[in-house]
Amino acid sequence: DHVLHTHDPDTRNGTSMASVASLSASLQQRVSAALAAAVPSATGADPLLRRSDRADFQANGVLGLAKRQKADPRVLAAEVAAALPTAGGAGADGDDTIAAVEVSGPGFLNITVSDAAITRNLAARAADDRLGVPLKEHPGTTVVDYAQPNVAKEMHVGHLRSSVIGDAIVKILEFGGEQVVRRHHIGDWGTQFGMLVQYLIEHPHELDHSEDEGDTGEASMSRLDRTYKASGALFRSDEAFKERARRRVVDLQAGDPETVALWQRFVDESKIYFDSVYRKLDIEIRDEDIVGESGYNDMLVETCDLLEKSGVAVWSNGALCVFFDDIKGKDGEPVPLIVRKTDGGFGYAATDLSAIRNRTGDLHADTLLYVVDVRQSLHFRMVFETARRAGWLTDEVTARHLPFGTLLGKDGKPFKTRAGESVKLEDLLDEAVQRATAVVREKGEKIGLTEEEITANGVQVGIGAVKYADLSTSLGRDYVFDLDRMVSLNGDTSVYVQYAYARTRSIFRKAGEGQRAVAHPELPLEAAERALGLHLDAFGDTLAEVAGVYEPHRLASYLFHLASLFTTFYEQCPVLTADGGPAQVENRLFLCDVTARTLRQGLWLLGIRAPERL
Ligand code: ARG
Repeated sequence: DHVLHTHDPDTRNGTSMASVASLSASLQQRVSAALAAAVPSATGADPLLRRSDRADFQANGVLGLAKRQKADPRVLAAEVAAALPTAGGAGADGDDTIAAVEVSGPGFLNITVSDAAITRNLAARAADDRLGVPLKEHPGTTVVDYAQPNVAKEMHVGHLRSSVIGDAIVKILEFGGEQVVRRHHIGDWGTQFGMLVQYLIEHPHELDHSEDEGDTGEASMSRLDRTYKASGALFRSDEAFKERARRRVVDLQAGDPETVALWQRFVDESKIYFDSVYRKLDIEIRDEDIVGESGYNDMLVETCDLLEKSGVAVWSNGALCVFFDDIKGKDGEPVPLIVRKTDGGFGYAATDLSAIRNRTGDLHADTLLYVVDVRQSLHFRMVFETARRAGWLTDEVTARHLPFGTLLGKDGKPFKTRAGESVKLEDLLDEAVQRATAVVREKGEKIGLTEEEITANGVQVGIGAVKYADLSTSLGRDYVFDLDRMVSLNGDTSVYVQYAYARTRSIFRKAGEGQRAVAHPELPLEAAERALGLHLDAFGDTLAEVAGVYEPHRLASYLFHLASLFTTFYEQCPVLTADGGPAQVENRLFLCDVTARTLRQGLWLLGIRAPERL
C-alpha cells in the first residue's frame, strides 16, 4: 500500500532486489587498498573507519600501523591520503566517491564523500524494495524461544518484555534472510496440572462459561484464576485431595485420555486469554509455533537415561543431578541442576534439555536464542553446559540466553499496582492507548482527522509507545514504566518517530501535480541533506549489526536519530518551495521518500505501526 514516488516505476521493478553497499563499506575498501599501497605488508589491516562529526568519516587505522612500522603517523597518513582516489584527482579514474581527504590530529584521516555519491547511493536504494539491504549470504537456522506465558496463570510484565523483544528479533533476523523457527515454550506441564485436573473432575462445572462473564480473554482468565485458587486451597488443606492430585499427575504424564482431555481445557481456555493480550499487543502468535513444555514429555525419560548413561548426571540424595565446579551456593556447597526429582518427577530443566535435543537434532538449528528474564540466567548457564557435555550442543551451535531486566515502577521497585498486586497486562495496554489517544487527539483535530482515525492512531501510538520504551532500552537494563514519558512528543519515543513519518506523508499529499520525487546527483547538498542522506545510507549496516548482536535498541536509536535528522532537514530545507528550482524540489522529495520508507520499514521491524496522518 506504500505509494512510491520515483521517476520511473518500470525501472524500479526491473532493478528490484539489488543490494547496495553503503558508502561506509565502499570507503572501508578504498582506505584498505590505500593502506596496502602505502605499506605493502599492511594488506588486510583494519582502517578503523567511523562516522565523524568533523568530516563525514574518520579513519584511525594509520596510527596503529605507524606504530608497528615505527613510522611517523602523520607522514604515513599523508601517504595513505595520497593513495586514495579523490574526485578529479590524478589516478581517480572517474571515481568521485571521495570529495576530500585531510590528515588531522596525530594521524587521523578525515574523509568527506561527494554529494553526488550520497545521492547516487540513495537512488540505488530507492530502486530496491528492500532499500538495498542485502540478504545474508549464508543464512542459518535460528530458533527463537520467546513469548512463553504459563497456562492457567495471569501473564506478567516479564512475558510482555519477552514477547516484544522476541518479536522484534524474529522480524529483524527474517528480514536479513535467516531461517527462523519461533518457539513459544509455554508453561503447560508440571505437578500443578494434576491438582487442576483433579479439581475439575470433582467440580465439573468450574470452567463453564456463565452468561454474565462472556467470552473475553479477561473472563477466561478470571475463570482460570478462580479454579487455580480454589484447587490450591484444597491441595493445601486436604491430604486426601493432595494424594488424588498426585496420582492425577502420573495419569497425565502417562497420557490417560480423560486426564489429557481435561488438561486440554485449561490450555484452550488459556489460549483465549493469551490471544486477547497478543491481539492488543499487535503481536502475531501462530498456533503451530506454540510448543509448550508438554511437547517434550515423550523425550524426558530418554533425556535422563542418556545423561545418566554418559555419566553427565549422577544420583545424589535420590535426585538425578548435574554438578558444576564453578557453581556453588552461599554455603559453598555445589548447586546442581536437577533433571529428575526425588519423587521421580521431571522438572523444568529436563524439559529444556529435551527441547535442545529437538532443536538441534530435529530442527537442525545452528543458533538457539532464549528471550527470558535475567533471573533465569543460572538455569540457562547450567542447561547449556549440560547439553554441551552431553554432546547435544556442539561447537557448531551457538546457544544464547538473551536476558532482559525488570520493569520498574516510578518508585524504582518492580512494577506493581498501588495495592502491591501485579499489573494486569491488558489494563496496562489499555491505559497506554488511552493516554496516547489524548495526545494525538489535539493535533488530530487540528488537521481534521475523523474520530475513527483518532481512535486508530491512539492504538498505534499507545502500543507503539509501550513497545518502543521496551526496545529502546538495552536488553539487560531495568527501566521505569512511565507512560507520561512514553507518549511524549519530544524525546526518544515512538510517537516522535511516527510523527516524522507522518510529516513525510503530509509533504507528498501537499505536493502539486508535477512535483515528484526524483534523485538529482548533480545537485549540491546542504549540510542537513548530507547528514540525513548519510544516515539513510547506513540502514543496512545498522540492521546487519543488530542481527549480529541481537540488540534491537540499536535499531530504535537509529530510527530516533533518523527522525531527528529529518526534523532538522525539514526545518532548514524547504521542500516544496525550495529556491533551487524544480530539480531541487524533486531531489528533496526524493530524500523525503527514502526517509519515509526507511522509517516505516524500521518501525515495522520493531513491531510498531506508522500512521499516515498524525
Ligand atoms: N514459562 C517460563 C516463565 O514464565 C518461561 C519459559 C522460557 N523458556 C524456556 N525454554 N525455559 O518463566
